[in-house]
Amino acid sequence: MKNDFFKYQAQTSPHPLALEIDHATGSYIYTTEGKKYLDFVAGVSASSLGHRHLKVVEAIKQQLDRYLHVMVYGEYAQGPAMELCRLLAENLPAPLEKTYLTNSGTEAIEGALKLARRFTGRSQILAARNAYHGNTMGSLSLMTYEERQKPFRPLIGDVDFIRFNEEEDLQNITERTAAVILETIQGGAGFILPKNDYLKKVKKRCEEVGALLILDEIQPGFGRTGKLFGFENFNIVPDVVVMGKGMGGGLPVGAFTASAAMMDSLSENPKMGHITTFGGNPVIAAAALATLREITESNLMTEALEKEELIREILVHPLISEIRGKGLMLALILPSAEMANELVLRAQDKGLILFWLLFEARAVRLTPPLTISKEEIKEGCGIILEILDVLK
Ligand SMILES: Cc1ncc(COP(=O)(O)O)c(C=O)c1O
Repeated sequence: MKNDFFKYQAQTSPHPLALEIDHATGSYIYTTEGKKYLDFVAGVSASSLGHRHLKVVEAIKQQLDRYLHVMVYGEYAQGPAMELCRLLAENLPAPLEKTYLTNSGTEAIEGALKLARRFTGRSQILAARNAYHGNTMGSLSLMTYEERQKPFRPLIGDVDFIRFNEEEDLQNITERTAAVILETIQGGAGFILPKNDYLKKVKKRCEEVGALLILDEIQPGFGRTGKLFGFENFNIVPDVVVMGKGMGGGLPVGAFTASAAMMDSLSENPKMGHITTFGGNPVIAAAALATLREITESNLMTEALEKEELIREILVHPLISEIRGKGLMLALILPSAEMANELVLRAQDKGLILFWLLFEARAVRLTPPLTISKEEIKEGCGIILEILDVLK
C-alpha cells in the first residue's frame, strides 16, 4: 500500500506518518499489519464519537437505502439536511437560526466571509494573528504565516490583523470593518483560550461600530469543550458561527449559521450568493444529525470535562510545563519542538496516536474521541509518561 500511497496520492508533507489502515472502531485504529493503535487525536478533532459509532453508521445505512445526491444545495427539501438545520437552531441561542451546509470547514469560512461582506456592504475583514481557518484562498488570507502564504499571493484584499486576547487592538475594529473572525479557542497557535472576557469585549466593540463577529467553532464545536459550542463557555453569542470537523461523525462537512435576516441576504442581490453542489448531501447530513443527537442526548459533554480532569491529574511530569485548552481539546507543552516530535513518533511506535499543532512546535495535541473511556485515557496517558521518563 505504502508505495502506491507515495506514488499516486498527492502528499501534504515530505514525511507523512503513512500508517496503512485496515479498519477502525471505537477509540482504536487497526493497520494492515494487525497492529492496534489507541487514538488520542480522533482524525484531528473530527471523529468525535470515535470510529464507526453505531448510531452514525446506522443513520448512514438507512439513508443509503433511500437516496443519495438528488439536487444541488438548497433546491429540494431533503429530510436529513432540513432536520439537521432545525436541530442546530434548537440548540443554538437566538438569533442564530438559519444554517448553510457546506462540504468542509474552509468552505464554511469562505461562506461566512462572503455573508459578512454582503450583509454589511463593507469589505474589511479583521482576523487574529496566528489564526488558522483553513486552506482555500479566503481562509489562507486570514493567516499571518508568510512562509505558507507567500507562494500563493495575491490573496484576498482588505484583510487586517489584531492580536488575540489584546484589548488594545480592539480600537482597530471600526465602521469600515465588515467582520472580525476569531477562533473561539485558538487551535493551531497552541489551544489558547480567550481570557479576561476578551470575546465579550470584542463583541461589544463590534456592536458599537456595526461589524459582525464570526466565531470559528470548527475544533471546539459539537461538545469538545463540555458545551455544544465553545462560545457558550464565555457568555457571548456571535453573529455567525462556523462549524465543521466533529459535526460530521467521521464524514466531511461544514456549516455556518446566522440570523434568518442575515442569511437571507445570501439568496438575493445576487441570487445564489454562495452555491455548492454537494453541501447538505443526504448521507453526510444523516451522519451529522445522528452525531448531533448523540452529543446532545448523552452525557458526553459533561464527561468531556471529567475526562479533562483525569488527564490533568495523570499527566503531571517535569517535562510538561503546561496543559492548555479545555475539555477534550488539550495540548501538552513540552520544553522543545524536538521533544514534542519525539513524543509523537515514539508514541506511535508504542501504539498510541498523538499529533502536532500547526504553529506551536512545542505542543502535542490530545483530542481523543469524546467517547473514549476512562480506562483508555489511563492507558494512553501511561504511555505518554513512560516516554517522557525516557526523554528526561
Ligand atoms: C479552527 C479551524 N478552522 C478551519 C479549519 C478548516 O477546516 P477543513 O480542514 O475542514 O477545511 C480547521 C481545520 O483544521 C480548523 O482547525
